[in-house]
Amino acid sequence: MDRVLGGGFVRGSTVLVGGDPGVGKSTLMLQAADRAARAGRTVLYLSGEESAAQVAMRGRRVGANAPGLLVGSGTNLAEFGADIEARNPDLVVIDSIQTVAHPDVPSVPGSLTQVRECAARLTGAAKAAGHALVLIGHVTKEGSVAGPRTLEHLVDAVLYLEGDRLQDYRLLRGVKNRFGSTGEIGIFEMSGSGLQDVANPSRYFLSRTTHVLPGVVVTPALVGTRTLLVDVQALTTRSGYGTPARRANGVDATRLAVLLAVLEKRAGLQLSGEDVFVATAGGAKLEDPSCDLAVALAVASAFLDRPFPHDAAVVGEIGLGGEIRPCGPVEARVEEAERLGFKRVLVPAPGIRASRAIEVVSCGSVDDAITWLEPQRTQRKTAKGA
Ligand code: TYD
Ligand code: MG
Repeated sequence: MDRVLGGGFVRGSTVLVGGDPGVGKSTLMLQAADRAARAGRTVLYLSGEESAAQVAMRGRRVGANAPGLLVGSGTNLAEFGADIEARNPDLVVIDSIQTVAHPDVPSVPGSLTQVRECAARLTGAAKAAGHALVLIGHVTKEGSVAGPRTLEHLVDAVLYLEGDRLQDYRLLRGVKNRFGSTGEIGIFEMSGSGLQDVANPSRYFLSRTTHVLPGVVVTPALVGTRTLLVDVQALTTRSGYGTPARRANGVDATRLAVLLAVLEKRAGLQLSGEDVFVATAGGAKLEDPSCDLAVALAVASAFLDRPFPHDAAVVGEIGLGGEIRPCGPVEARVEEAERLGFKRVLVPAPGIRASRAIEVVSCGSVDDAITWLEPQRTQRKTAKGA
């Protein structure tokens, strides 16, 4: 959470934490509140969703029991205001902004007027008293108006907790941050005792296929300031009528169009009659230009129906001439690939310090790189074991 916030909570500022009901917002904030309290801060966790006993029960489950963590329950913002004044906390968490109401505002809790007015009063109080404020907000279904989006302009940072509920991973992303970048993501796992750090985040973005498939290429990508291994997947099929379809998920569509043109012109792949679909595993958004090579090779692999070596990762930006250009922190990328058990990594420029466990191969052009596509199907041990 510190990483996503760009260092932590800032006094006088307000962070909005949004997400679907049930995704784990209350759990995340109770754990964060506990950490702050353990660091010697006074934290006031005010719940309009649950009774203090229910919050305490969750607290016991996740081990949140720091003496400085105070819990209150209610829906009256005037009472909460009095609590805040009396306790003079360092951090205040309101769970959720949709459940509180100020008696002076003649509007029901959760309505646009009420939510805005309460948020404005709370942020004003945070600024005046100098405590950090967190507002939890449910992402509301279409039709209800008072979702977190209506508050984004009022607050200093907006974080969304996302997850697919079938798997236990949760991603925390910043969509607005006055104090840091929004490129960082937090990756957690929901366990029986709350959200846990994921020790090996690259695992999340590697698809869990056990067989080698054509069209899958792994790249160590920069996600915020971290290097994570991400699976790029491609599928090509003969196009029916008219303009071929091109769909990109997690990869920039314009960039994909450029790479397809390069593959056609510089590597002789007849892609103009093909529908092309590209996606990243785990919904990673690749904004790093050095993922070009992985995208191009995934498409080439799918088109040629030849799997890319399962023990190899690739990194490099591709120029219009089909040349592979040098890119940012190659060392860190090679290390991450090595750490996850890859045996070979294809990089743009020679001169990378050769490490013992991974073979570093430099490659000048996309045409050269395509020679790496191996014809035989083999077990993909790396991704399976990772
Ligand atoms: P919660 O934090 O209540 O979600 P939100 O505040 O976003 O609505 O968490 C909801 C889910 O998380 C709930 O289905 C139970 C599960 N959970 C765990 O799996 N482990 C835990 O330790 C806790 C506290 C919750
Ligand atoms: Mg909740």
